[in-house]
Amino acid sequence: MTCASLNFRDSLMVRGAYNPKQKLPLVPCSDGVGVVEEVGAGVSRVAVGDRVSPIFAQKWLGGEPTHAKLRSTLGGPLDGTLAERLVLSEEGVVHVPAHLTDEQAATLPCAALTAWSALTGYTPVKAGDVVLVQGTGGVSIFALQLAKLLGCQVIATSSSDEKLERVRALGADHTINYATQREWGKVAKDLTGGVGVDHIVEVGGAGTLAQSLRAIRIGGQISLIGVLAGNQQDLNINPIFMQAVRVQGILVGHRESFEAMNRAIALHRLVPVVDRAYAFGEARAAFEALAKSQLFGKLCIRIGA
Ligand SMILES: NC(=O)c1ccc[n+]([C@@H]2O[C@H](COP(=O)([O-])OP(=O)(O)OC[C@H]3O[C@@H](n4cnc5c(N)ncnc54)[C@H](OP(=O)(O)O)[C@@H]3O)[C@@H](O)[C@H]2O)c1
Repeated sequence: MTCASLNFRDSLMVRGAYNPKQKLPLVPCSDGVGVVEEVGAGVSRVAVGDRVSPIFAQKWLGGEPTHAKLRSTLGGPLDGTLAERLVLSEEGVVHVPAHLTDEQAATLPCAALTAWSALTGYTPVKAGDVVLVQGTGGVSIFALQLAKLLGCQVIATSSSDEKLERVRALGADHTINYATQREWGKVAKDLTGGVGVDHIVEVGGAGTLAQSLRAIRIGGQISLIGVLAGNQQDLNINPIFMQAVRVQGILVGHRESFEAMNRAIALHRLVPVVDRAYAFGEARAAFEALAKSQLFGKLCIRIGA
């Protein structure tokens, strides 16, 4: 392995909050990149010297998720990517785009694929659609970049004006400070001339869903991905059926989708946003920084020289 990257899930995992029944010891992290050092007999998907990333759920190659497929996720329950060497099935890795550095490539397996699955999965966005992304963490920055790549207009929110400037530089068409504009759902809807947003990449969860339901258009999709703003809340769900809104849970994605995303990333030379890369010995500091949620994009941990 040459680099690993961190997700919010890893922070919960190391604190025992993701799965209290997780067997220890555990090597954390699901995301990373490395170079194939050795292959077994009959291996044809990869060769020695290839640069590859492991897939998040080692047995989810395509189709609908199942219990068996989802029991194979790295960084819990299986040992993950914060390791110098991994032994994986050839089926459990994908080649990464050549234009990316190891740090950039290490960010793709969970955060990027989750954003890609939201935008291209159940109800794919189309050019011209308006997509709203919440905050400036790993999933949301990828959602912004991928939505632009797919030809969409993007409304981005953040609690920081400085970060809003940075998302505008990445291509966001409109920005809203959700800390000062508590009714950001209405502001977003107004930005669409009162029609509403086509697709919302919902990382806030129960704490932001009420505003998302204000922002979404009739028949639009809210891709429910995370719970950064909490997973329980009193909520009026009438707008979901009164306005035929699709609230769709998203769970990372499968290998087939990862490979499709990598083709798009390579073609458009999309560059993931790495906030900071830590040395292997600084892993603890990286996890502490992740827990503070003050990042912009992704945090990485370099492995080896
Ligand atoms: N379902 C899945 O398959 C899947 C996959 C990946 C991640 N997730 C989940 O998705 C969520 C995001 O993951 P991540 O790795 O992108 O997290 P992250 O990188 O840690 O995101 C942190 C950022 O989220 C923003 N944020 C925090 N509270 C917010 C709120 N109330 N409203 C809007 N934005 C808020 C902040 O942006 P600003 O500083 O700009 O305000 C913060 O910097 C987590 O809950 C994670 O567990 C789920």
